[in-house]
Amino acid sequence: MESTNKDQFWQHITSIESVAGHPLVIKDETVSTNTDALDLAIHGSATGTVVIAKVQTGGRGRLGKTWISPSGGGLYFSMILRPRLDISELPQITLAAGVALCRAIARHCESVPMLKWPNDLLLSGRKCAGILTESHLGHGSEPVVVLGIGLNVSTPLSFFPPDLQKKLTSLEIHCPGVDMTMLFTSLLEEVDSIMARMENGEFGVILDEWRLHDATRGKRLSWVTADRRIVTGISLGPDDSGRLHIRDDRGQVFEVLSGDIQLLSP
Ligand code: BTN
Repeated sequence: MESTNKDQFWQHITSIESVAGHPLVIKDETVSTNTDALDLAIHGSATGTVVIAKVQTGGRGRLGKTWISPSGGGLYFSMILRPRLDISELPQITLAAGVALCRAIARHCESVPMLKWPNDLLLSGRKCAGILTESHLGHGSEPVVVLGIGLNVSTPLSFFPPDLQKKLTSLEIHCPGVDMTMLFTSLLEEVDSIMARMENGEFGVILDEWRLHDATRGKRLSWVTADRRIVTGISLGPDDSGRLHIRDDRGQVFEVLSGDIQLLSP
């Protein structure tokens, strides 16, 4: 995988201790930065600490999926948060982080980023980044949330399993020469800004921005429920609490809290 910019990024990152005020924990190789960050958080590491890795051997996605994280092919990092939010609001962090990702990418890239509920960032209809938030609810203590973001930067599509090659993409295809140091810095700043707004009770405003990037509203999709039933229908977009609404062919509206969503061809 060739990209001097990406190599310069790693050289730069390993020579500094913080980015945008976030202490960095740098790993050449790890299983999962989310696992590392959760562990550090439980043992008292500072809020805002970011664990970043050049390669992950067991990168995780939502619903037990794998996040393919080859050496230097992407941005793989996790941030420790201790948000002043109610536990019921924690799932909203995933949507808010999607908005932060869109803002950062839009600032450094001409492609228009879109979002697929709840955690996928798409460029030209293909998934380029994913968000995995995981929480630890200690007894009596404030909840700890780890916000993990994986962004394919220069991973060749041939690197992905054949069934995913048409669904995934890498940033450099859309934004050749993107400055990864600037993008990473912007991303951390946008997460800070959006988390401050969340804590200020402004999720509604963030959601309005999320809706501007909604890749599936009005489109036909299928939803695999937690008990493996398949619901097909039209996406009505997220409601004010962030739950996706789907209207099936009989007019029944489902509120989706979790599960896998697939866009169907028209
Ligand atoms: C998804 O698309 O389902 C979420 C993918 C999240 C991947 C990132 S990479 C950094 C962090 N560490 C992990 O193991 N997962 C997240």
